[in-house]
Amino acid sequence: MKIVTRISELSHDVGTSIGLVPTMGGFHKGHLQLMKTAKEECDLVVASLFVNPTQFGEGEDFERYPRNLERDASLAEEVGVDVLFAPSPEEVYPRLGSVIHVPVVSKLWEGSHRPGHFEGVATVVCKLLNMVGPDVAYFGLKDLQQCLVVKRMVEDLNMPLTISLQPTVREEDGLAMSSRNAYLTHEERLLAPSVYRNLSECKQKLQVPDLTHEQAEGILHHAKTSLEDDGFRVDYFELIELETTKAVRNLSMQCALIAAARLGKTRLIDNVLL
Ligand code: PAF
Repeated sequence: MKIVTRISELSHDVGTSIGLVPTMGGFHKGHLQLMKTAKEECDLVVASLFVNPTQFGEGEDFERYPRNLERDASLAEEVGVDVLFAPSPEEVYPRLGSVIHVPVVSKLWEGSHRPGHFEGVATVVCKLLNMVGPDVAYFGLKDLQQCLVVKRMVEDLNMPLTISLQPTVREEDGLAMSSRNAYLTHEERLLAPSVYRNLSECKQKLQVPDLTHEQAEGILHHAKTSLEDDGFRVDYFELIELETTKAVRNLSMQCALIAAARLGKTRLIDNVLL
């Protein structure tokens, strides 16, 4: 595996299919699964590792985000990554530059709790796609709204690649894999699977025939308060439709249950598709 830090070192071999796995490092089984899938489907796999400052808000965890290039490089190599692209902030942002805003799907939920976050994500993903020139880019569905934003950007801007969305990889107790799980204390780690448990129970309860608006409201309210009773501070626990990300109370379109909740200093997000 080659480790490169400069855009000029990335080669674009003609006739070779390239798969890109964009990451911020802190590799876990979720990242490694994306890389393995890319390896099965593409001739050449590039993983990018860049802790993107523009997607972190004030007071967020940019400084303490897990950084360990040596460990990440060795894990990426084990799963067959060909090129690890780990640019510096100066390489990615040589000056105050253009910013991408993806309307509608960026607005609510993560968008309103983390102002500017999706502009940071969309801009860096667009830049990484242009730098690497992949045929396919792989993203994990754990960050569902990020997936919707990236997909919408690629469609709106006619970018010539496929966005491949891959299932969330979970710990045995259901906790979605995330680099941020490393922040959890032992006690918090034991509580953390409640987010997925509540999402799953809620999904089951919502899938009854002839569900009324009031019943759906009650089911969502119960799930939220049960997380709060467990000690979470819940930013949102919602049923949304995927096209617009707006809250809904029936399942007539493609929907997901989404949740964001804080446990101590850790903010967990998760979702289940319906
Ligand atoms: O999901 C992430 O790790 C980041 O948001 C991404 C897509 C690599 C952009 O910085």
